[in-house]
Amino acid sequence: MTAYELLIQEMPHSPKTWLITGVAGFIGSNLLETLLTLNQRVVGLDNFATGHQHNLDEVRSQVSALQWASFTFIEGDIRNLDDCRTACSNVDYVLHQAALGSVPRSINDPLATNGTNIDGYLNMLVAARDAEVKSFIYAASSSTYGDHPGLPKVEHLIGKPLSPYAVTKYVNELYAEVFARTYSFTTIGLRYFNVFGKRQDPQGAYAAVIPKWTAAMIKGEDVFINGDGETSRDFCFIENTVQANLLAATTMQEAARNEVYNVAVSGRTDLNHLFESLKINLAKNGVRYAKCPVYRDFRAGDVRHSQADVGKAQRLLGYAPQFDIDEGIEKAMPWYIDFLR
Ligand SMILES: NC(=O)c1ccc[n+]([C@@H]2O[C@H](COP(=O)([O-])OP(=O)(O)OC[C@H]3O[C@@H](n4cnc5c(N)ncnc54)[C@H](O)[C@@H]3O)[C@@H](O)[C@H]2O)c1
Repeated sequence: MTAYELLIQEMPHSPKTWLITGVAGFIGSNLLETLLTLNQRVVGLDNFATGHQHNLDEVRSQVSALQWASFTFIEGDIRNLDDCRTACSNVDYVLHQAALGSVPRSINDPLATNGTNIDGYLNMLVAARDAEVKSFIYAASSSTYGDHPGLPKVEHLIGKPLSPYAVTKYVNELYAEVFARTYSFTTIGLRYFNVFGKRQDPQGAYAAVIPKWTAAMIKGEDVFINGDGETSRDFCFIENTVQANLLAATTMQEAARNEVYNVAVSGRTDLNHLFESLKINLAKNGVRYAKCPVYRDFRAGDVRHSQADVGKAQRLLGYAPQFDIDEGIEKAMPWYIDFLR
């Protein structure tokens, strides 16, 4: 039995209180669904900057009335310290997901990204420290590897950031380290690598590649590939990301705390392959896409290749990703078809 299988067997017998910031977003709402299903108490904080009420409504439809009654939603902003303090009150574990994602968004508006991702993050750290939560797990990012050429990426070898977004995510790690050293406050950073799955927003200028292309294909629109299509990523299905959060929050291993971990599957998929894979999976669900992709310039701030070494998370957290990209796309596709049609 894996560490995660053991954990989810035990959790329903010992309910704890979890705070999820960014709960109305993609990753936050998936964390919420899993935790409620495991009979946990959850407090959620979100200002709907990029999250949606319909994500919360969908979770409600997936859990029992009793489980939903264990959820308290606070509409609030992490840039407001009082909102963070209210949300952290009487909480065991914090899963801090709220941030403004997207490299291009941060290039267009670095002040907004900085305000939420650094000022808001620091508010959350202070509020969680003062509330004496057991552990503070935060969404870090593979963008922290920046221009470091090494592959696969190992946690201690990072380069210079390539975007304002990457700066903010690296600053999160620096603050976490300083809070551990200065206040003995326990944090764990999870460097996500291109997470995908149900409820990832397909709309808007800053949508991620999988939902954006899937939406375009379902509507019969052009799919644009930035560059030659050989740019590669370690796409990580949401269930793996949820697993890493739960293992990190509950770890009893002293050596596992106050560290950062890659969270992915150690796979490497280029954009040309991704295009074909989405096309095949849509066809399996009765949606035919006949167009070829349209190639255009590389996008500023993007790293060329990204692939994680997940050995550290395996060793110290017992992380064992359950889904590779193909299994994840197969599982996510029916949701996109339902949502977008
Ligand atoms: N999705 C990925 O591939 C990926 C990769 C690396 C890191 N991350 C990080 O994971 C986290 C979650 O990302 P996601 O993909 O679910 O994005 P998302 O946009 O779906 O979710 C972010 C949520 O945070 C909320 N939020 C934003 N600013 C806020 C504020 N000031 N106060 C309160 N709530 C606020 C949004 O409304 C949204 O619901 C983010 O920290 C992101 O940077 C995501």
